[in-house]
Amino acid sequence: MKPVEIAKGIYSVGAIDWNIRDFHGYSTERGSSYNSYLIVDEKTVLIDAVKKGFEDQLIGHVSQIIDPQKIDIMISNHTEMDHSGGLPRIMHAIGEQKPLFCSKMGVKNLSAHFTQQWNYHGVENGETLNIGSRTLTFLETRMLHWPDSMFTYCKEDQILFSSDAFGQHYAGLETFDDVVGHTIMAHAKKYFANILMLYASKVLKLVEQVQAANLQIKTICPDHGVIWRKDPGKIIDAYVKWSRQIPEKKAIVVYDTMWRSTEKMADAIADGIFQEGVPARPIHIRSSHRSEIMTEVLDAAAIVVGSPTLNNCMFPTVSDVLTYMKGLKPQNKIGAAFGSYGWSGESVKLVQAELEAMKFQIIEPAVRIQYVPNDEGLASCIAFGRQIGQAVNRKMMNDE
Ligand code: FEO
Repeated sequence: MKPVEIAKGIYSVGAIDWNIRDFHGYSTERGSSYNSYLIVDEKTVLIDAVKKGFEDQLIGHVSQIIDPQKIDIMISNHTEMDHSGGLPRIMHAIGEQKPLFCSKMGVKNLSAHFTQQWNYHGVENGETLNIGSRTLTFLETRMLHWPDSMFTYCKEDQILFSSDAFGQHYAGLETFDDVVGHTIMAHAKKYFANILMLYASKVLKLVEQVQAANLQIKTICPDHGVIWRKDPGKIIDAYVKWSRQIPEKKAIVVYDTMWRSTEKMADAIADGIFQEGVPARPIHIRSSHRSEIMTEVLDAAAIVVGSPTLNNCMFPTVSDVLTYMKGLKPQNKIGAAFGSYGWSGESVKLVQAELEAMKFQIIEPAVRIQYVPNDEGLASCIAFGRQIGQAVNRKMMNDE
């Protein structure tokens, strides 16, 4: 792969990870990339490193443009190891005592990850750095999604180097949004749902700040996936929409099952929801990765969760999904619980408690069926589904 020139003297020089399929619990079926950007000016700057093990790709790309030793300044927008793991080798390649710019929290966090005594420059929010014909501005984006996160903005080229924000776990040679086409939005949505959903209010505040500052953005260069050059407003608008968490008329019925009883219930509940004109889909947990489920949760109006009872508890896979979901803090949802059981039957109560903890509007009474649902039991599931569908329809009217 060759480095790609984004604007005159500005290059994408990062690494592609074609084979990663699990990114700390997030399924990355299309791999990912660890983007890094080189700005050649009177002073030459490298923005962000790569994950450990991918340094050769980065150094190889830089070397096709300049001798890495000629890099004057390293900028780290974010400490997480997929961007800083390669720093020791990169700093060694460019010169251990070259200035390393990052946020003040970045100094603290990088120092907690690495023992090297690098020449840190902790920047203030809004601080600028003149590199010749360009001025870079550092914008603190604390908790988007780490305490150290920041953006670097180049006003002359109107490029925002946005760290994880606006990224996608997508490995490809296409480099730009317009080359991949609209399919990239599905990857961006999944990324938002699984990485940024819990910081939705901060995303909205940040977009407001950027708009108030009248920051002109022609290109967005994230640290994962493709660069947004065709219409950066499209991904910004999508972030605003996703952050507002205004649901679509849609319900998902997420469940696991031991002997297919809870599955039969899930299918009947989905049928009932659909009878009220609400698109509904049963999702079997062991057939769908938790990160795919979260992508569906992002814009669903109703989250219905079913679990058999196993040893007085909810099924472990259901617990996994609920724990993951709770951490990402979905807002403005209708919730409902159901499940089959043999003798003690605690799972439904436990699932409902988790949905309540997420402040979902609960549809009651939850449906519990002993052993195998008969016709009467399935009819009660359909009725429960219709009740959920009606609640979704009311919600859609109220949210308009
Ligand atoms: Fe791509 Fe938060 O690291």
